[in-house]
Amino acid sequence: MGEKHGHKHPGKSSRDVLSAGDVLKNLDLKKGDKFLDAGCGDGYISMEASKLVEDEGKVYAVDVYEKSIDALREEIQNRGITNIETKIADMTKKIPLKDNSIDKCVMANVMHGFVAEGEVPEVMEEIRRVIKPEGTFALVEFRKIQSQHGPPFEIRLTPADVEDVISPYGFQVQGSEEIGTYHYIVKAVKTE
Ligand SMILES: C[S@@+](CC[C@H](N)C(=O)[O-])C[C@H]1O[C@@H](n2cnc3c(N)ncnc32)[C@H](O)[C@@H]1O
Repeated sequence: MGEKHGHKHPGKSSRDVLSAGDVLKNLDLKKGDKFLDAGCGDGYISMEASKLVEDEGKVYAVDVYEKSIDALREEIQNRGITNIETKIADMTKKIPLKDNSIDKCVMANVMHGFVAEGEVPEVMEEIRRVIKPEGTFALVEFRKIQSQHGPPFEIRLTPADVEDVISPYGFQVQGSEEIGTYHYIVKAVKTE
């Protein structure tokens, strides 16, 4: 892992410390929804979402780290899941999805890395492009407290920091709440 990618955390998962159900209950995912798991890692949130959107919907699991996507593809195949599309992509360059195509997006434990690396504009332009007007963008982050799990304290974000990061890109924050032992979720909608 080079210096530039020191905060990207390839191969990390919050599977052991955060329940996918606790994340997704905030999104009200419905049958037929198009859901994006942005920076999906091992895809444990994607697999839970796939049950909620059912066969009429679709889950797009996107990550830059090939090994994570390879492992997810194998798990999907073993479990017989057919409504998850995996994509290896660097979201600071391009999210390989059409404009205004996503109903709901989760970015879990990823944004602090983009902030630390100074890559917010690139990734937020892409997130904004793919989410539908009135679509939901939910960010999950580790609380800004000293804890054994999670990124270094200095680069952790507060919910207010998250709001400051995404607001300039046409997202209106609706609220935030603590989830699990270590995390919080900020829920926003794409305006105009
Ligand atoms: C801490 S892990 C979180 C994984 C998963 N969302 C979770 O909560 O378990 C951060 C993930 O973001 C991915 N990531 C970092 N930068 C990325 C980029 N530019 N494009 C796509 N994925 C990226 C990493 O490869 C890694 O899988």
